[in-house]
Amino acid sequence: MAQDQAQADSEFLAPIDQMMHPYRQQFPANSRIPRQGRSRDEILAELTELRALEESRWKQGYASGSVYHGDSSHIEYMNQAYALHSQTNQLHSDLWPSAAKFEAEIIAMTATMLGADRTTAPFGSEEGVCGSVSSGGSESILLAMKAYRDWARDKRGITEPELVMPVSAHAAFHKAGQYFQIKIRTTPLDDGFRADLNALEDAINENTIGIIGSAVNFPYGTIDPLEEMSEIALRRGVLMHVDGCLGGYFLPWAEKLGAPVPQFDFRLPGVTSMSCDTHKYGYAPKGTSVVLYRGMELRRYQFFTLADWPGGLYYSPTFSGSRPGGLSAACWAALMTIGEQGYLDATKRILDAVAIMKQGVESIPELRLLGKTVGVFAFTADSLDTYQVLDQMSYRHWALTGLQHPPAIHLSPTQRHTTPGVAERFVSDLRESVAFVRETPNIEGGMAPIYGLAASIPDKSIVHDLLKQVMDVYYRL
Ligand SMILES: Cc1ncc(COP(=O)(O)O)c(C=O)c1O
Repeated sequence: MAQDQAQADSEFLAPIDQMMHPYRQQFPANSRIPRQGRSRDEILAELTELRALEESRWKQGYASGSVYHGDSSHIEYMNQAYALHSQTNQLHSDLWPSAAKFEAEIIAMTATMLGADRTTAPFGSEEGVCGSVSSGGSESILLAMKAYRDWARDKRGITEPELVMPVSAHAAFHKAGQYFQIKIRTTPLDDGFRADLNALEDAINENTIGIIGSAVNFPYGTIDPLEEMSEIALRRGVLMHVDGCLGGYFLPWAEKLGAPVPQFDFRLPGVTSMSCDTHKYGYAPKGTSVVLYRGMELRRYQFFTLADWPGGLYYSPTFSGSRPGGLSAACWAALMTIGEQGYLDATKRILDAVAIMKQGVESIPELRLLGKTVGVFAFTADSLDTYQVLDQMSYRHWALTGLQHPPAIHLSPTQRHTTPGVAERFVSDLRESVAFVRETPNIEGGMAPIYGLAASIPDKSIVHDLLKQVMDVYYRL
């Protein structure tokens, strides 16, 4: 066993350890608080040095997603907004009622953008759309699924809850399944990489608390057939969540610009909740997202209250107790200054860059785009090892995401890709990468063998163990 472990460590974990901890020589690790604190200047210099080492790759547009805006003046402005409210905490809204103002307005602005004003109940009414600000997409999803589970237990007597979702729904729904003991039933996709409606409806049973659709899903960037799913949800009497974490702040503007975007939000009567990340295409700093519900009743199943605690009467709307008010201040500041016109302009620039990148993919005979998308896209290499292409792209500095089933490469376009020349560089690097893989037999090293190995191991518990070890490695000094 110890020997197996050592082998796994050297073959698989050692390169990951190197990638995660490249600074051991340059910046020795600290395992105890310094006896005498070091000077602020010295520490700020170290922080600056570390930032400089990591900044150029994402700033020059080599990353998928990650930093969605990234212009220096926007970052500076976000930092100022955060700094002004860095001491605030939403848990103490008696001390900082400004935090409540920021969050209520972030929710209202997001809800209005997502069709809340086009439902029969007005925003702010008991039946109208309402929501919460959370720390990110996963928390928004977890909160909604906890609310679904508790609502269904209370209202429909479901004690063995199940969720039905296409395989493309985000990993956070599986996390919710594990955390809250909800059985996850995944269903296949159709040829266009969208939920297969027959399979989805067939999977609904008396324990189903809700169905999940995405606008857009993470892997392919496709939009599920949400109009039909909304009808299914109404007909079968189940809740329906639309995951707009990635697309929620992109599709409304793309739709206004005339892109082919079907209805995906609260305009669809079966949609009972949505998640929508301000920290992606909302261009707020990392750490905020919005979860929305149709009606306050459902939202109340998200809330936590404690009436007889010695520490006082306690309530908290989301998972955290104390929360960073500065992040909500900065998020609010982003929405208020970018404005509708700013979002439209940014979306237009991104769509233009995507057009160049997608045309480039299509012009390379070995590559094939997966599904029809607006924005986020993915492609595969049918006649070559896609993961070798991914490796070649990474040697050319690109930080793209490898998908599985089928092996594919994903890119979430951001404002970083709108700098002149970046989209063209993506295409020329991709052309070179494909040519190299085509012409080079038996390429060694890289991540491709690891992806191949993970896919070939039928016993997924081994892969789970390896992934847990990766997280152990993350926490190494
Ligand atoms: C469609 C979708 N849902 C949920 C999430 C989870 O968001 P986060 O990483 O902010 O928790 C993501 C992240 O990329 C996403 O793309």
